[in-house]
Amino acid sequence: MAKIVNSWNDWDPLKRVIVGRCDNSMIPPEEPATSEKVPVDSEMRGMWGLRPLATVERGNECLENLVKILEDRGVVVDRPTPLQWNQAIGTPDFRNDSMMTCMPPRDILLTIGNEIMASANSFRCRYFEYLAYWPLMKQYFDEDPEFKWTQAPRPRLTDASYKHNYYDEKITLEERLVRTANKDFVTTEVEPMWDAADVMRMGKDLFIQHGLTTNRTAMDWFQRYYPEYRVHAVNFPGDPYPIHIDATFVPLRPGLIINNPHRKLPEEQRAIFEANDWQIVEAAQPAHDEPPALCYSSVWLSMNCLVLDPKTVIVEASEVYQQEQMDKLGMNVIPCDLRDAYPFGGGLHCSTADVYREGECLDYFP
Ligand code: ARG
Repeated sequence: MAKIVNSWNDWDPLKRVIVGRCDNSMIPPEEPATSEKVPVDSEMRGMWGLRPLATVERGNECLENLVKILEDRGVVVDRPTPLQWNQAIGTPDFRNDSMMTCMPPRDILLTIGNEIMASANSFRCRYFEYLAYWPLMKQYFDEDPEFKWTQAPRPRLTDASYKHNYYDEKITLEERLVRTANKDFVTTEVEPMWDAADVMRMGKDLFIQHGLTTNRTAMDWFQRYYPEYRVHAVNFPGDPYPIHIDATFVPLRPGLIINNPHRKLPEEQRAIFEANDWQIVEAAQPAHDEPPALCYSSVWLSMNCLVLDPKTVIVEASEVYQQEQMDKLGMNVIPCDLRDAYPFGGGLHCSTADVYREGECLDYFP
């Protein structure tokens, strides 16, 4: 029996990874956690429902581009099993008219060492998304005797989990930025809620973004669950929709991070990096002024790269400035055409979840 699951950070040599699938993806109905942003850029404006089939097929094509690049380099690629996401769901605490997708996996699965944990997402439409990964989890469980198959405490997601009318359409961008600065987010603190993509793993240290999808109670929960790690809450004023850390603060190798210039890590939170001689570089400008149609993310998916090892990185093919910068920073850049997968939840890092990277748990901030 082999060791299948092992990953402590986002840069050690990647050997096995999960890549999402766009099949059956939905634009979900409004709910207290998400009503912000039903895309306004198409005939689907104001509506929810199945995403247009042609966009799903094109998104899947993009993911196949990524799979090919990975497999050509000897990385083992696993894929989830999509459900019919258009089914209504219910628990004793809530009902929702549909689910969403199994993109991107980074939001749902958190790999820390030999453990993969399904997250405690705050969106009701994502409550059952983990099921798409359960066949893989069972396979890892059967084949790797040390694999820890874990589910974080499931949030109840009753109305008490949210501030209501938080996404009032009349709110201006400036007002949203004030909220971010005041750490005023849509979730309450009645239970731990977190998305895996808010957690940046760096060996003994976990840096977790406090924002719309991850609350303070989650930070507390992490520190108690992993007493041997240091859990750091991080905030990025300047982001009007702080959701997921990986288009904001992205490590390339030990000692080097690129930071979104509109969402700078505050001085007091930079101290730990500076004290340990880490360099925080402003990320290059995105190549696009607008995200693609029906996309929830910002143009900053430009920096959402997948590091294959401390010298090699996959960057989206049209993001020429980001590629140039990576090159100057001493990375070998592999371009991948993935932009039409962005509407399904994110870029290269988002679209994947780590299964195996070489290396062990190190202390980068002694
Ligand atoms: N909130 C980010 C932005 O729009 C997108 C992050 C996507 N990441 C993810 N893991 N789904 O800039």
